[in-house]
Amino acid sequence: MKKLFAILAVVAMVLGLSACSNEPAGPKTVKVGIAIYKFDDTFMTNYRTEMKAYFETKNTDDVKYEVEVTDGKNDQVTQTEQIDTFIAQDYDVLIINLVDLTAASAIIAKVKAADIPTVFINRQPSDADMASWDKITYVGAKAEDSGTFQGEIIVDLWKKADSKVDKNKDNKLQYVMLMGQAIHQDATLRTEYSIKAVTAAGIEVVKLFEERGEWDRVKGQEKMATAITQFGSQIEVVFANNDDMALGAIEALKAANMMDIPVVGVDATAPALDAIKNGTLVGTVLNDSTGQAHTSVDSAIKLLAGDALEKLQWVPYVKVTPENYTQFVK
Ligand code: GAL
Ligand code: CA
Repeated sequence: MKKLFAILAVVAMVLGLSACSNEPAGPKTVKVGIAIYKFDDTFMTNYRTEMKAYFETKNTDDVKYEVEVTDGKNDQVTQTEQIDTFIAQDYDVLIINLVDLTAASAIIAKVKAADIPTVFINRQPSDADMASWDKITYVGAKAEDSGTFQGEIIVDLWKKADSKVDKNKDNKLQYVMLMGQAIHQDATLRTEYSIKAVTAAGIEVVKLFEERGEWDRVKGQEKMATAITQFGSQIEVVFANNDDMALGAIEALKAANMMDIPVVGVDATAPALDAIKNGTLVGTVLNDSTGQAHTSVDSAIKLLAGDALEKLQWVPYVKVTPENYTQFVK
């Protein structure tokens, strides 16, 4: 009797299995984990929103992308836990915007051990880190170029026939620099290359003030208020490593009745384009969140397919001024 039951059970199982395999397969689910350094960041918000939207366009009858996006809250320990969870839950591919670049080698060791292809974005791991596995790639923009474009925007203003940039007429540019987070290549290189472009045009510079606003609008405003307290009417121009800090600086200048001081940013966010329209921001540089989001998603899909990718993939920056800003308004 027992034997008969056992046989019946096996038969039932085989039938059950074959019944299953006769059903239409349905789309295969691909689990995508996206780790963002923090959600409270204007540029990265545009970026992550576009990645999600673009993944949706990639769904077909055969594949469905299930996308989970995490907020690292600007804390590497938190982000590493989120990545550990993605790994534990067998995610198929990851896109990572690291909080702290010095964590790159440890994170790459983890995804490599789990064999999960990974696209790094926005914060560039070192060449040695990138060389440590073939299923990783980096998508970004060449920070040097964004700095150079900022400098050129100011040089153009300085060279205009009716230019009022050199307020004290000493033939030198007295400047304030508002920098992004220390860990970020964009902060270092924009700071360096914006000034290089000015000196390359034969204009001498005097650095009055250089501090970190950490990419943040409120901090940018606070730092600018401090700069105004210390240097007041000596200030001739403000370079900000991104638009949020530039917009914060404009608030501080407004409060001090110093709206004639040119301010230049980077990113070309919607509020920055508005500020160009209103004449409060003299220029910015498009940091192409849409282009970078698409390249990141396409790269994730290619890595999943087993394609070999370039280690470093670049999306170009574009200079944005009152002459061409309307092209970038969405
Ligand atoms: C930069 C961007 C900043 C900020 C930062 C975050 O590329 O210009 O606004 O978003 O990335 O890592
Ligand atoms: Ca001067």
